Amino acid sequence: MKTLIFTNQKGGVGKTVSTLNTGAALSRKGYRVLLIDLDPQGDLGTAAGVEPDENDATMYEVLKGEARASEAIVKAPGGYDIIPTDIRQSAAELELAPVIGRDFLLKNALREVESRYDFALIDSPRSLSIITIMGLTAADGVIVTMRADYLGIKAIVQLRDTVDMVARQLNPKLDYTGILLTFNKRTNLSKRVAEQAQEGFPGKVFDTKISVDVKLGEAPGAGQDIFTYSPRATTAAQYSALADEIIDRLKG
Ligand SMILES: Nc1ncnc2c1ncn2[C@@H]1O[C@H](COP(=O)(O)OP(=O)(O)O)[C@@H](O)[C@H]1O
Ligand SMILES: [Mg+2]
Repeated sequence: MKTLIFTNQKGGVGKTVSTLNTGAALSRKGYRVLLIDLDPQGDLGTAAGVEPDENDATMYEVLKGEARASEAIVKAPGGYDIIPTDIRQSAAELELAPVIGRDFLLKNALREVESRYDFALIDSPRSLSIITIMGLTAADGVIVTMRADYLGIKAIVQLRDTVDMVARQLNPKLDYTGILLTFNKRTNLSKRVAEQAQEGFPGKVFDTKISVDVKLGEAPGAGQDIFTYSPRATTAAQYSALADEIIDRLKG
């Protein structure tokens, strides 16, 4: 199982949408996919058409050691599996702070299910919190998700410091799988952002960029991935191409 985390401490950059649709694309190519929501907003489950109810085990119970990962896995209508979470997980931050080895809680919890999947894709919260650190510690690769419609490179420098620290202290195999540009347009600004990303992460920017797309913006509200909601959307083809690029990079 390859574990990839979509991250950026900024909100609204397309992390959740990209985690879901990259997972859906990989799943349609025949790979066994587990989606993991680490954001207490619980948007990934909602976007995938899965709503945990109060009695269901979620990521929160898994992190606290009260449920096994396998007990929190739900089948999403799109054909992939997901461990959803909800707002209760916001308490985990404080509750888990004093736990010894807390950074490894997710990594250790996923061992139980790793033989069942080809890919685990983690959606992360809009912060560089201990929860995000757990995600980075469990991951093989980071997919930095950034909008092509503003120069957000300062946030990326901070993110890179965090990734470097995790790679040094907790997870030496951690690597950048790639930089994903979202909300891409045919503008000079998008070109400049792509150039800056290229300078910051030479050779790492994915050729596939995700366009601004009304359908893609609507799909999460319908609880569907783009392949179900609007299979002919340009962004469906883009997420499919992104999945191919990811597979190639992991091979090479
Ligand atoms: N390429 C896109 N084009 C149009 N709307 C998008 C696109 N990607 C994401 N969105 C919309 O933008 C909002 C933020 O995306 P989201 O994936 O939730 O960001 P994050 O998880 O980084 O906070 C959501 O309402 C989503 O539907
Ligand atoms: Mg999100």
